[in-house]
Amino acid sequence: MASKKITILGGGNLGAAIAEGLLKSGFAKPNQLTVTRRNLDRLQHLKEKGVTITSDNVAAIRASEIIIVALKPYNVKEVLEGLKNSFDPAKHIIISVVTGVSIQNLYTIVGNVPLFRAMPNTAIAIQESVTCLCSQHSTNEQVNYVNELFNQLGITISIDEKLMDAATVLGACGIAYALRFIRAATQGGIEIGFDAKTANLIAAQTVKGAAELLLKGNRHPEEEIDKVTTPKGCTIVGLNEMEHRGFSSSLIRGISASYNKIIS
Ligand SMILES: NC(=O)c1ccc[n+]([C@@H]2O[C@H](COP(=O)([O-])OP(=O)(O)OC[C@H]3O[C@@H](n4cnc5c(N)ncnc54)[C@H](OP(=O)(O)O)[C@@H]3O)[C@@H](O)[C@H]2O)c1
Repeated sequence: MASKKITILGGGNLGAAIAEGLLKSGFAKPNQLTVTRRNLDRLQHLKEKGVTITSDNVAAIRASEIIIVALKPYNVKEVLEGLKNSFDPAKHIIISVVTGVSIQNLYTIVGNVPLFRAMPNTAIAIQESVTCLCSQHSTNEQVNYVNELFNQLGITISIDEKLMDAATVLGACGIAYALRFIRAATQGGIEIGFDAKTANLIAAQTVKGAAELLLKGNRHPEEEIDKVTTPKGCTIVGLNEMEHRGFSSSLIRGISASYNKIIS
């Protein structure tokens, strides 16, 4: 299945990043990829790499088997309504990365085409996304293909569709939470003597290293924290002060607030 032709409907931030990642990984050759949007000036970088860029969604769908929908939630219904006769259930797989539009809603628009929902994050641009995936009525072969596609762009996790909003908060909004942590650590670093650039580099690489300890070392966070908290030492003093000020609590409450907003 890996040689299938892929169309990305809506070559904006996410759509273009997916195209770049698929090219970089070699999963798709330029002549297997089509990216659509109305303003084609913004896709010249992909055209230069040999990708087909077009505003003709119908022609793009007809020429491909895999259709990645990366439109905004507010115009997905209108655009797909206009394209519904172009989808062939025996030929196409649709993968929607659109936030908040359920598989059932998509079915009512496009009919009985095999459908997946994917929730990546912006680290997809550097092939470091976590992408949560769910589907209905798909074959094992189709599931494997879609997993393989997003595995080129980071890691994939299969979830129940009812967890898609939670995946949006923890994975996609999570990029902003993690970046705010790095920003705050940088500001602290400046206060204790570093210039901004050096403080930012130390903070960012430290977060990357901490994450890799969990991902590559298969460790629990508390196990790694115990290693650096010497009795009566400076780490535990700082960590406890952060907790007295609500560090874990504010993060958990922020995640809940984002979730409540998304489901309201
Ligand atoms: N960014 C994230 O972190 C993230 C993460 C997970 C999911 N998502 C979801 O991914 C989707 C895309 O997000 P984004 O940030 O990439 O938005 P975006 O940059 O606005 O991309 C949407 C693109 O759709 C194009 N478009 C609009 N109408 C079209 C049409 N009729 N035919 C073809 N293309 C059309 C627009 O370009 P023209 O105006 O030139 O046509 C625009 O470039 C959203 O639903 C978002 O919720 C985003």
